[in-house]
Amino acid sequence: MAAINAEGLYKVFGKRPKRGVAELERGKTREDLQKQGLTAAVIDASFTVDPGEIFVVMGLSGSGKSTLIRMINGLFEPTAGTVTIADQLITDVSPEKLRAVRREKISMVFQHFALLPHRTVGENAAYGLQIQGLNKADREKAANKALDEVGLGGWGGHLPGQLSGGMQQRVGLARALAAGTDIMLMDEAFSALDPLIRRGMQDQLIELQQRLEKTILFITHDLNEAMRLGDRIAMMRDGRIEQIGTAEQILNEPKNNYVASFIQDVDRTRVLTAANVMEPAQGVIGAGSGPQTAHKVMREGQHNWILVQNRDRTPAGILWEPDVAEAVRTGRKDLPWSPVHEMPTVAQDTSLADLFAVSAQHLNPIVVLDENGRTVGVIPRVTLLAAAANNGQGADMPESWGSPDSPLNDGESMADSATPDVPHVMEGAK
Ligand SMILES: Nc1ncnc2c1ncn2[C@@H]1O[C@H](COP(=O)(O)OP(=O)(O)O)[C@@H](O)[C@H]1O
Ligand SMILES: [Mg+2]
Repeated sequence: MAAINAEGLYKVFGKRPKRGVAELERGKTREDLQKQGLTAAVIDASFTVDPGEIFVVMGLSGSGKSTLIRMINGLFEPTAGTVTIADQLITDVSPEKLRAVRREKISMVFQHFALLPHRTVGENAAYGLQIQGLNKADREKAANKALDEVGLGGWGGHLPGQLSGGMQQRVGLARALAAGTDIMLMDEAFSALDPLIRRGMQDQLIELQQRLEKTILFITHDLNEAMRLGDRIAMMRDGRIEQIGTAEQILNEPKNNYVASFIQDVDRTRVLTAANVMEPAQGVIGAGSGPQTAHKVMREGQHNWILVQNRDRTPAGILWEPDVAEAVRTGRKDLPWSPVHEMPTVAQDTSLADLFAVSAQHLNPIVVLDENGRTVGVIPRVTLLAAAANNGQGADMPESWGSPDSPLNDGESMADSATPDVPHVMEGAK
């Protein structure tokens, strides 16, 4: 069952708008209609949002995003086409039916959403629940729970004026959560926020969505925001949806020149993940092996490092050729770990940007793990650099990033580098 389905949606503003739809279907352009005093705000939009998905509609100002979302929530009647919400048709239905579906299924978060200044934060979050017929105690309970979920626990008794802009926007989110609907529609909900606060809100939305499994239709004019949030993205231009796909699909296979030029300066380091750039480890030995085996594998494969793996495919560490050669020469029996064997590990969904941060403070290749801690791939530094180089522009690597292929020549400056936000890095090996 689709959470939201839009089929052939048109919205034309002006006199006798259906005439405009007929002309568009006959091949007339938006500009042609403009000359007749008609605005074709949305043209033949079709898409499906799956339950639990974050679906982003992305487009420049004036491309028809707000008009589209208003047809989805029933505020605008489409000039043509149909909308279903959780398999219930909301176009061409009675006003009562429309109101019922809206109330039970959809909540909305706007860019500038008006908090009632003389009502408390809790009352603001509970706004709308009265219509649902909840009594005061239940309303308070739902509001407090929602405030907790957005990190505003304890603020329920304050007035909105005592909150920062970012916090006020979270009250809007809390209100939508308190309504308890499965579907949330968000129109430029974070666009007015400062970049850092905005980033925090994006993270929080992703986290909330994963925890509460809401279906979210999110509108933005910011491509990086779209790529960060969207499971899928619809790229809109002049009223039409040009392409629908995952961030990767849109980056790697833009459907036309418009989309291609749009994504030119997207920061790939925030879109691509460890899973996109990892490769199989070339040389692997078991943790029970000795220096002789390591040396043989390295010589035969011409590897300057190899991965040592436990029986259950969890990684034990990385060995480097000079240490192994030394161990063979001196007749050492155990594996010659060196300080270099400190092995960074990451989850598959770690962004390229975060991988740089990890790599900047480790000399070894990064080992990518599945949910059970088993090795699924490795990312040597040279691979990471190559992935960013494809970028053309926008890759923001730490300045202290050292030479990619030589682990031993630049240790100090790399070890000194500042690395914010490093995801769970597992130090050392068994
Ligand atoms: N109520 C309206 N009456 C007439 N034209 C409108 C109305 N709402 C939006 N438009 C026009 O429709 C087009 C799309 O607007 P909108 O959906 O607000 O775009 P976006 O949200 O992408 O900025 C614009 O040209 C806008 O001027
Ligand atoms: Mg808009």
